[in-house]
Amino acid sequence: MNNFNRRDFLKTGAALAGLSGAGLAGALLPASMAQAQSTAGKIRVGLMLPYTGTYTPLGVAITNGFKLAVQERGGKLGGREVEYFVVDDESNPAKAPENTNKLIQRDKVDVLVGTVHSGVALGMAKIVREAGVIWINPNAGADEVTGALCAPNIFRTSFSNWQNTYALGKVVKQRGHKTAVFITHKYAAGDQMMASFKDAFEKEGGKVVKELYLPFPQVEFQALLTEIASIKPDAVAAFFSGGAAVKFIKDYQAAGLKGKIPLFGPGFLTDGVLEEVGDAADGMETTLHYADGLDTKKDNAFRLAYVKAYKLQPDVFAVQGYDAGQLLAAGLDTVKGDINNKAALIKAMEAAKIDSPRGVWTLSKAHNPVQDIYLRKVVGKQNKVMGVASKALADPAHGCKA
Ligand code: BEZ
Repeated sequence: MNNFNRRDFLKTGAALAGLSGAGLAGALLPASMAQAQSTAGKIRVGLMLPYTGTYTPLGVAITNGFKLAVQERGGKLGGREVEYFVVDDESNPAKAPENTNKLIQRDKVDVLVGTVHSGVALGMAKIVREAGVIWINPNAGADEVTGALCAPNIFRTSFSNWQNTYALGKVVKQRGHKTAVFITHKYAAGDQMMASFKDAFEKEGGKVVKELYLPFPQVEFQALLTEIASIKPDAVAAFFSGGAAVKFIKDYQAAGLKGKIPLFGPGFLTDGVLEEVGDAADGMETTLHYADGLDTKKDNAFRLAYVKAYKLQPDVFAVQGYDAGQLLAAGLDTVKGDINNKAALIKAMEAAKIDSPRGVWTLSKAHNPVQDIYLRKVVGKQNKVMGVASKALADPAHGCKA
């Protein structure tokens, strides 16, 4: 680990265990009694997610997924009940330090689960590294989180921004397209997805002829769609998600581009939006670490349970939340609920083999999922699996000294 190594972390963790976990009294108790105290009471889980704004559906799906994993274990992890502390981060990076501190300092959470927006995640990272609290990131793909900012207490159950669009660049070239335009919101996630798409597409001989951006969370796409029509690339690749994705897909059709210039994307573009976009997404191909119709025992059981609990179809965000719960359960079961036994907890989480609805995955040394990236096609209301675009894809984890 750069700057902040494993030994520093364990020292910080031990200090924190004395002060915030068992309290000063705990630090003075004999070891066996301190241990008993640290495994009593509820596990305090902080959910820092967007519950307002364009990424609201993502925050809700992650929350539902996480809670489902806990409910399936009788409401307990490692034998202890779970108590939730919730903060709406509004996908606002400027408020990230304050919101993170609310959960860590004020609510004294044992585990932080969040967030969706890469800019918010980058605002959380330094605080979380220094506090030593266990952080499970169930979406935000900022490459640095499991790259230059990696740390023993930081885990991700979703993806890095590099992963899905790297696979996509190859797919678009394989379809015979030589030129492409990439369009996205201007922030870390858009920049990084654009960069890995371009890297893969151009390595295969394609050319990204234009990068188009608009500020997050604006959805005034008209001028940019007019520009695409005048450029006439062979293909367009887009990263938008949630409410912005719904509007972009509809506007693309309304601008007369559907059927003329094929639209691709990382699957965030079409996951969780198909009920709302009518036929505007029909036939779109995307790449993602989850798909509809995987038809595995685990996925079928998860989907049934999710629909029963929430009367909603799950999507990739629900899966990532569910797997955050599964990863935490794997760690806490091993330490029998002793959240303050951080070294053993981290070791158990690092070694976990997650039986996910997406397929079994493990963590890289940098704590990012090593996972299959599926090729999917929109058929009716499904992101139907068409095959595996990239098998067991690991993020390069640039800058992580793990
Ligand atoms: C991100 O900001 O990292 C992100 C947001 C929504 C979907 C995927 C990634």
